[in-house]
Amino acid sequence: MTSLVYTVSETLRYRGAIGQWSWVLHRLSGLGVVLFLTLHVIDTSWAVFYPELYVKAIAAYQSPLFTIGEFGLVAAVVYHALNGLRIAAFDARPVMWKYQARAAWFVLGGTVLILVPVFLLMFGHVQEFYSSGRPILPLADVLVEQLPFALGIGGAAVLAIILSAVIGAVTGNKKPGPVSKGAGSPIERFWWSFMRLSALIIIPLVFGHLALSHIVQGVFDITAAGSPVAGTLIEPNPSSILADGINQSGTAVEYVAERWNFLLAGVAIWRIYDIALLATVTLHGFNGLRYVLTDYTNDSPLLRRAAVILCIIAGVVLLTVGGLALIGEIPLAARDAAIQAAANLGLGE
Ligand code: HEM
Ligand code: HEM
Repeated sequence: MTSLVYTVSETLRYRGAIGQWSWVLHRLSGLGVVLFLTLHVIDTSWAVFYPELYVKAIAAYQSPLFTIGEFGLVAAVVYHALNGLRIAAFDARPVMWKYQARAAWFVLGGTVLILVPVFLLMFGHVQEFYSSGRPILPLADVLVEQLPFALGIGGAAVLAIILSAVIGAVTGNKKPGPVSKGAGSPIERFWWSFMRLSALIIIPLVFGHLALSHIVQGVFDITAAGSPVAGTLIEPNPSSILADGINQSGTAVEYVAERWNFLLAGVAIWRIYDIALLATVTLHGFNGLRYVLTDYTNDSPLLRRAAVILCIIAGVVLLTVGGLALIGEIPLAARDAAIQAAANLGLGE
């Protein structure tokens, strides 16, 4: 019965004109956000581990190429969230399936309605930055900056294929059964429920995070010298330069330190917020990536197993690197190294 419900729901969701398009858009938007997340968590960890590299990473975020990408990222998150809610709601209320095509149009319309004012607000920040004459990292540097990520992702894929080959040689390379989301084994049922539950938690977390970094302050304010840091002003600690609520040096490292050192009633609320964000989006995103990759590697036990291994490696690396950064300290020396790095790049204010 469950499998019948599942088959019918998949057919209604994924076939036909608008259903097919929303399936494609949901998949592409999810993949785009997973790619961004991989770069973003590693970049952000540099605020703790390699302050000089974090300066460059944020300068890349403030370049025209990434500015265009940020509009795409926001659009992807908004569409994926609304469509994900539609999928979860129709899965929960099968009697509503006859309205699924109309709901898919509502999702598109809702996305446009949300994006128009959001893009206008974001555009305000963009215009202010580009007309301020503040220095911009050249495109060549921005691209070179992304090379290690491309190599890292390629290396992880090769490692996953080698591990898969070794496991296959030991276990006899049996063809695995399909990943049947929801209806299959207990573990697949767990992941099916997890995708929906995590989605509900991700919505407030990711939109709160995006509002802070795009609307309240904007990506460009991360490096505005002497500017207050949003979400840290209720209880600043004037005795500590890195927790006084003001990004005095105008370095991205001091900005992150301000947020992570901020204590509300003694609790590092932004660290806890980011830990929750990291855990939910990484598990949801890489399990989603597993669904996508295993869909396309059904015919090859080697590649299918490699796809699963790749998602596990990537998820574990991100949780470890991001988690260690989130419990790490950013000392004054890191801020000073960032000031020096910005000056060397000609980015100081
Ligand atoms: C903003 C709130 C979000 C909601 C409401 C949401 C909802 C969903 C739902 C309901 C699914 C379908 C799961 C299934 O087929 O069992 C899904 C799949 C997926 N999600 Fe999300 N999600 C959200 C955020 C994210 C984020 C932040 C990422 C990336 C880090 C992401 C990446 C993916 C991927 C890659 C898939 C697989 C797509 C496919 O199978 O075609 N999602 N999401
Ligand atoms: C271009 C848009 C974004 C900007 C400018 C941005 C900026 C930042 C900044 C400055 C931090 C460090 C401290 C803080 O302020 O919380 C951070 C951390 C984080 N962000 Fe974003 N963010 C963006 C989009 C996203 C999205 C879409 C996601 C989820 C899919 C996300 C997930 C995270 C996570 C998990 C952390 C913690 C990282 C770690 O542990 O190393 N961010 N972000």
